[in-house]
Amino acid sequence: MRIIVTKDYESMSKRAANMVAAALKEKPNLVLGLATGGTPIGMYQVLIELYKAGQVDFCQMTTFNLDEYCGLSPEHPQSYHYYMNHNLFSHINMKPKRINIPDGTSGNMEDECLRYEDAMQQAGGIDLQILGIGVNGHIGFNEPGAPFGGKTGVVELTESTIEANARFFESSEEVPRRAISMGIKSIMRARRIILLASGNNKAEAVFHAALGPVTPDLPASALQLHPDATMILDKEAAALFMEKYGDLEVTFSL
Ligand code: PGA
Repeated sequence: MRIIVTKDYESMSKRAANMVAAALKEKPNLVLGLATGGTPIGMYQVLIELYKAGQVDFCQMTTFNLDEYCGLSPEHPQSYHYYMNHNLFSHINMKPKRINIPDGTSGNMEDECLRYEDAMQQAGGIDLQILGIGVNGHIGFNEPGAPFGGKTGVVELTESTIEANARFFESSEEVPRRAISMGIKSIMRARRIILLASGNNKAEAVFHAALGPVTPDLPASALQLHPDATMILDKEAAALFMEKYGDLEVTFSL
């Protein structure tokens, strides 16, 4: 696993956006896996700036989002459909038909999960997957205990995730209890993975994910088994690596 430590959230976001832009230049019909939450917003802003400056072209790109809440329509301001439109898609030249996000309002969740897995395969698989990480080490909505062999499915959110996400809702009661999420196996099939983390509250999770035992108790630890996984951290998220290895602006491999 490669670890890139950047000085702050802005540098983390720029670094990640530049890696996406480079991948897109190399392969204009890139299949990009996308994450939501607070962390990737800065990266999306830089990608929008690069687009406006004529430095990236998204017209052939296909995207697959990691997850969506069950029961929220695409118009709901807290749905991940809404988030993606608001934070990225409405500002760039993505073709709507190449945007894929699980349908959290499907009448048949099981079919929707199968359809989503199939759509990823049909697109040729994900070239580059962007991930955030939960304070409990979750990736997508794969909470501790989720099997490494899991494909896209309906998952129950843990209390810690409901609490962490309550800041986007009026109250924690409003946070949906279930979501459709790519499974860990679906994520691990991506040819390349970039995990972003910012802030002290992520320091433990990223440190143990990279250096601790590989275990479903810490879903992100599965990335140790991936041949091309990179963490891009700001210095607060990298605090425990810094304690162990010193130095600030560094890239190293574990
Ligand atoms: P955050 O969420 O980016 O809002 O911290 C990350 C996650 O829960 O995966």
